[in-house]
Amino acid sequence: MTAIWSVDTAKFRKNAENVKQDNQLMAVVKNNAYHYGLEFAVTQFLAIGINTFSTTSLREAIRIRKLAPDATIFLMNAVYEFDKVRAYNIQMTLPSLSFYYENLNELYNIQVHVEYENLLHRSGLKTIAEIKELLSHHEQNQNTNKMNIVGLWTHFGYADEFDVTDYKIEREAWLDIVEALLAENYQFDMIHAQNSASYYREEGIFPNHTHARVGIALYGSRPYSTIDETVIQQSLTVKGNIIQVREVNQGDYCGYSFAFEATRDQTKLAVVDIGYGDGILKSRAKHEAMINGKRFPIRALMMSHMFVEVDDSVSARDEVILYNNDIRVDEYTFKGVGANSEQLSAMNHDSLIKEYR
Ligand SMILES: Cc1ncc(COP(=O)(O)O)c(C=O)c1O
Repeated sequence: MTAIWSVDTAKFRKNAENVKQDNQLMAVVKNNAYHYGLEFAVTQFLAIGINTFSTTSLREAIRIRKLAPDATIFLMNAVYEFDKVRAYNIQMTLPSLSFYYENLNELYNIQVHVEYENLLHRSGLKTIAEIKELLSHHEQNQNTNKMNIVGLWTHFGYADEFDVTDYKIEREAWLDIVEALLAENYQFDMIHAQNSASYYREEGIFPNHTHARVGIALYGSRPYSTIDETVIQQSLTVKGNIIQVREVNQGDYCGYSFAFEATRDQTKLAVVDIGYGDGILKSRAKHEAMINGKRFPIRALMMSHMFVEVDDSVSARDEVILYNNDIRVDEYTFKGVGANSEQLSAMNHDSLIKEYR
C-alpha cells in the first residue's frame, strides 16, 4: 500500500469546459500545470479548444511547443535566450523600459506583450507615459528587423481579496490605460489581465480584452469562497491507507515531541501511510481526513505517517482521503491552510503514486 495522487481525467476535462464556457482563455500551465502535469494538462486543454498557454519558464514553454505545434505560447517572465525564444516561436513579456532599451537589437523578430506593472510591482512598465514612450520609440525605429509588439497585459495582485479596495484601484488603473491606448489607435492582437478570481468576479472577460489568463479554476479549485462548489469541480484525489488501528490511554503522548496527548482511555488512533514527506502541509494536518465518507481529526503529522483519531467503524486497510471533491483543496484554502496552489505544489510526486484514471 502506498499513498496515491490521482486525477479523474473526464472530470478534469469537464471542469475545464465549465470554466471556459464560450470564452477565450489563456491557460496558465506554469509549475508543471500547478503540478497536475504539463503534458496532461496541455493535452486536456487542447481537447476542449484552448490553444493559448502561458508559463513562467522557457523550458516549459518549449515543452508546450512540442505538444502543441500551432498554439500561442506566452512566456510571462522575460528571458535572455533570445535565439531559443525565436526558434520555438514563443511570445514573451516586455517587462520594463530598461529591458527594452538594453535588448532592443537582440529582440528582433520576437513577439512581445507589453506589461503594465500596476499594484503587484513584480514586473512591467510603470506608467502610461512609459508605455507610450516605448510604443513611439518602437514605431520610429527604422530597423526592419525589430521586435513585434503583439500584446498588452497586466496581472492583478488583489483580485482574490474582497476586504480591501485594492482590486478596484488596480482594475480602474488598468482599464483606463487600455482605453487610452485604444483611443489613440494603438492596436494589439492580444490584451489580457484577468486571473481566475477576476474572471469570476467580472462574470467573464473585460471589454476590449481578447483572453482571460486563468489558472487555478481550470485545475478545479475556487479562487474565492462565494463561488458555488458545483461551478468549479476538483478532479484530484490524494489518499493514504490505514496500516493499523491502535489503542492508547489517557495521558499517553503519541507522535514525535508530544505531538498528541490522549485525553481518554481506549482512544483509537489510525496509523496512516502518508505524511509531510508526501507533501501534506503541517497546516492541513490541523484539520480532518475522510474515512468511509466520514471526517475524523488528524492528531499528528510525521514524515511518512499521520495519526487520525477514529471510531469503531474504521479498520486497517481503509482508505484515508486527504483531498477529493468532497474534502477539497479550496475548502482548506478558505480555512487558512495556504493558497490552493501552495497546497497543490507541496505534493511530492516522487513519493506518491501518480495516476491518471
Ligand atoms: C501572471 C499570472 N497570470 C495568471 C495567473 C493565474 O492565476 P490563477 O491561478 O489565480 O487563475 C498567475 C498565477 O499566479 C500569474 O502569475
